[in-house]
Amino acid sequence: MNTNGVKIRIENKGEYRQVENLIRESFWNVYRPGCSEHYVIHVLRDDPAFVKELDFVMEKDGALIGQNMFMKTVIEADDGRDIDVLTMGPICIAPELKRRGYGKILLDYSLEKAAELGFGAVLFEGNIDFYGKSGFSYARRFGIRYHDLPEGADDSFFLCRELIPGYLDDVTGVYQTPAGYYVDDAEAEEFDKSFPPKEKLKLPGQIF
Ligand SMILES: CC(C)(COP(=O)(O)OP(=O)(O)OC[C@H]1O[C@@H](n2cnc3c(N)ncnc32)[C@H](O)[C@@H]1OP(=O)(O)O)[C@@H](O)C(=O)NCCC(=O)NCCS
Repeated sequence: MNTNGVKIRIENKGEYRQVENLIRESFWNVYRPGCSEHYVIHVLRDDPAFVKELDFVMEKDGALIGQNMFMKTVIEADDGRDIDVLTMGPICIAPELKRRGYGKILLDYSLEKAAELGFGAVLFEGNIDFYGKSGFSYARRFGIRYHDLPEGADDSFFLCRELIPGYLDDVTGVYQTPAGYYVDDAEAEEFDKSFPPKEKLKLPGQIF
C-alpha cells in the first residue's frame, strides 16, 4: 500500500534492529517503567506461530514510522475443538506521530490482509477506544473468555474482531495467549542494555 507518502510493506530482515528501536521508543514508559515489547518481537520472529506474511512496517517519506505483527493461536472451545485464530501485536507508531490517524491506517490495512489470507478472527488485549474504531468489540460478547482470569474479573481489555463474519457463531471457549509472548524479564532487561540508555519512569496511567 502506498498513498500520500505513506507506505505499508513487509518488514525486511536488514531493518529488524531499527524496528525494535522504534517499538522501544513508542512503548517506553507507556505501560510500565521502560518496556519489553522490543524484546518480545525479537523473540517472536523466530516462533513457528509468527505470521511472516503479516509482519508489517509503515514508512512515511522513506522513514520507518510504525509496525504491526500477528501470531497464530487457538481458542480452546468448550466442545473440545481448537479454533484457529490470530492474535496481534506489538503494534506501534513513532512517538512524535501518534494520534494523527497513522495507527488506524496501519491496523485497518493489516486486518484486511489477514482476512485475505483466510484467517477467521483476531483476539488480543487492548484499549477499546482505539480498536473499537476498527471493528473490535469485547471478546466476551463472542462468548470467548480470557485464560486464567477469575470469574467476574474485569475483562474489558480483551477484544475480538471476526474477519470472516459468523466465524465464532457456534464457538464458546477460552483464548490462549501464545507462550512466546511471556518473555523472561531478566532476558528482556539484558537485551535492552544493547540499546542507547533511556530513563525508566514511573508515570500515572501505567498498568504494570
Ligand atoms: C496505540 C497506537 C498504535 C495508536 O496509533 P495512533 O496513530 O496514535 O492512533 P490514531 O491516530 O490512528 O487513532 C485513531 C483513534 O483511536 C483512538 N485512540 C488512539 N490512541 C488512543 C489512546 N492511547 N487512548 C484512547 N484512544 C486512542 C482515538 O479516538 C483516535 O482518534 P482521535 O485522535 O481523533 O481521537 C499508538 O498510539 C502507539 O504506538 N502507542 C504506543 C504503543 C501501544 O500502546 N501500542 C498498542 C498496544 S495494545
